[in-house]
Amino acid sequence: MSQLRRAKNLVKSSFRPPSPDRAPTGTAANAVTLGTASSVNEGGMAAFKAEDREIAVAKVGGTYYAFNDICTHRRCSLSDGELDDTTLTCICHGSRFDISTGDVLRGPAQRPLEVYPVRVEGDELRVDVPRPS
Ligand code: FES
Repeated sequence: MSQLRRAKNLVKSSFRPPSPDRAPTGTAANAVTLGTASSVNEGGMAAFKAEDREIAVAKVGGTYYAFNDICTHRRCSLSDGELDDTTLTCICHGSRFDISTGDVLRGPAQRPLEVYPVRVEGDELRVDVPRPS
């Protein structure tokens, strides 16, 4: 991983608001279109903005996973990280998350990722983003 990319991500992270905690189940949600499914390559990730959130989408084994792009540790962009199956490693300090559940697999992050239901309609990526409470 590039030291320059990591440094840029750390600087950007200092200007981001705190990432939300995992949404409680049963929370009302807005269905939003992020972009095209073809913009996410197999084994890759892409970042989108929707509903005042930065949302990353990964494609692993033909399945799409959507989650908050902002690391719960110090707010680096997770879509700049490294993906191995459904394990995502943050580029900044090495926290690991399971993008299928949002669970923290390794610190220093303590809080899980917010994950969102995602589906493909035509070539559109649609996610259900919790409404602010
Ligand atoms: S910002 Fe992700 S591990 Fe520190």
